[in-house]
Amino acid sequence: MTRRAITPGTFDPITRGHLDIITRAASLMDEVIVAVAASAGKHPMFSLPERTQLVREATQHLPNVTVEPFGNLLVDFARERDAKVIVKGLRAITDFEYEFQMNALNHQLDFDLETTFIMSPPEFMYLSSSIVREMASLGGDVAQFVPPCVQEALTKKFA
Ligand code: COA
Repeated sequence: MTRRAITPGTFDPITRGHLDIITRAASLMDEVIVAVAASAGKHPMFSLPERTQLVREATQHLPNVTVEPFGNLLVDFARERDAKVIVKGLRAITDFEYEFQMNALNHQLDFDLETTFIMSPPEFMYLSSSIVREMASLGGDVAQFVPPCVQEALTKKFA
């Protein structure tokens, strides 16, 4: 049986922290689908096609990783793709309560879907997309936090 996992997120934009989790998930699973959420309620800075494209570019070196946008419930998307596992990153302890709630809800919606967590390494513990967006908007150098394609996209966005 193919072990297929989903790593979901808004990815506005994808950071090296996300990439670390995706890479480690890809080494544990047969296939990983990075699911880029529409997340309309969050009013993302990059459009859904832009975010999807940036995740594709950032993960193109990982042969068992594919990238897809989605706009429905995560449990439904996982069912459609026949994925049995959701992999998420856990950064600081502050992530825990929210992830605990999401896991409980998703579990209630689909009993067969497991959520598993990978701890972020210390260097990415406090990294987030909004911090990256703010730094870039103020002309800061974000090279150590994002893949080159994202750095380029941010430079264009704030030119
Ligand atoms: N490295 C760096 N940053 C990370 C990270 C990591 N490993 N993991 C999370 N983050 C940051 C993100 O950058 C983002 O930062 P920001 O808020 O500063 O921009 C923040 O954590 C939240 O990440 P996001 O990708 O928006 O994920 P989320 O945990 O809020 O969940 C979905 C997003 C897509 C998984 C969730 O909204 C979902 O499942 N949506 C589909 C609809 C649905 O099913 N809803 C009901 C669920 S019960």
